[in-house]
Amino acid sequence: MPDRPRVFVTRNLPGDALNLLRQTCEVAVWPGQLPPSPDDLRREAAAAHGLLTLLTDRIDAALLAAAPKLVAVSNMATGYDNVDVAEASRRLVLLSRTPGVLTETSADLAFGLLLAAARRIAEGDRYVRAGNWRTWGPEIMLGPDVHGATLGIIGLGRIGAAVARRAAGFGMRILYHGRSRQPQAEKDLGAAYADLDTLLAQSDFVTIHAALTEDTRGLIGARQLALMKPSAILINTARGSLVDQDALYEALRSGAIAGAALDVTDPEPLPADSPLLALDNVVITPHIASASFATRSEMARLAAENLLASLAGDVNDNVVNPEIAGDWRSRISGGLQ
Ligand code: GLV
Repeated sequence: MPDRPRVFVTRNLPGDALNLLRQTCEVAVWPGQLPPSPDDLRREAAAAHGLLTLLTDRIDAALLAAAPKLVAVSNMATGYDNVDVAEASRRLVLLSRTPGVLTETSADLAFGLLLAAARRIAEGDRYVRAGNWRTWGPEIMLGPDVHGATLGIIGLGRIGAAVARRAAGFGMRILYHGRSRQPQAEKDLGAAYADLDTLLAQSDFVTIHAALTEDTRGLIGARQLALMKPSAILINTARGSLVDQDALYEALRSGAIAGAALDVTDPEPLPADSPLLALDNVVITPHIASASFATRSEMARLAAENLLASLAGDVNDNVVNPEIAGDWRSRISGGLQ
């Protein structure tokens, strides 16, 4: 059994997360600004007991097969669609994530994007910089009001609920759709449950906060976009693949909906020749919902703590596959190899 577990971290991290890991582990950190390639990741993971990964790292069957010593993966994200969880579980690799710490920061950006798209903030900035601002005009850069409008929230988890609290401050009517009804949230947030089609048809703004799974991939496609009001705006800060991007482009181009604001795209980064970039009625940011100084440090710290907990044999609340705990403990009971 090695004295100190070997850990590979796939990018430099803010805050004190790396120092925390170094107290008890041998830590290697990928030095690049860009993620390791699948080959690099496989090579680095080959001798690792633990990985601290980002949503840009694919932890798939090939990677897991090449990492025989691996017992824990700690993903510095609340989402974990970059990980083949079934295969990790089959190989008795514990997976953890960082929910909770990014809730308010992510909701801030979602609401910021909503405002930016409605009130044409990014477009207005481009207009000024392009030298087009010649006068104040009664009909220049008009957009819909946010206050008093109806907000449809798809996925009323932590972040969806935090967006609802912000919307309440704007006097918005709130509809939500999710896997289950949430009577307490309905009371606390004044949110009304609606089936997805009703939510899409009645909302002025639709914001997506669902997890990406095989069930939710392409959740918003051509049929769903056609149900939305021509004046409606779609906000996606969850995962790009929840929306059929070709259908979204067509809806934005044809005026089937009025606008969109996307912090996530499919793929990421969005290729420079994406037709979306030619549209003025879409605001796009580079997957930065959790990108505040404090929150990224907190996420890194929590990811490090999760990894240390796993390497110490602890299955904490942030573990995604706790159902393997029994077999996993047997696997590591003889010590790390
Ligand atoms: C970001 O997208 C996350 O899942 O934390």
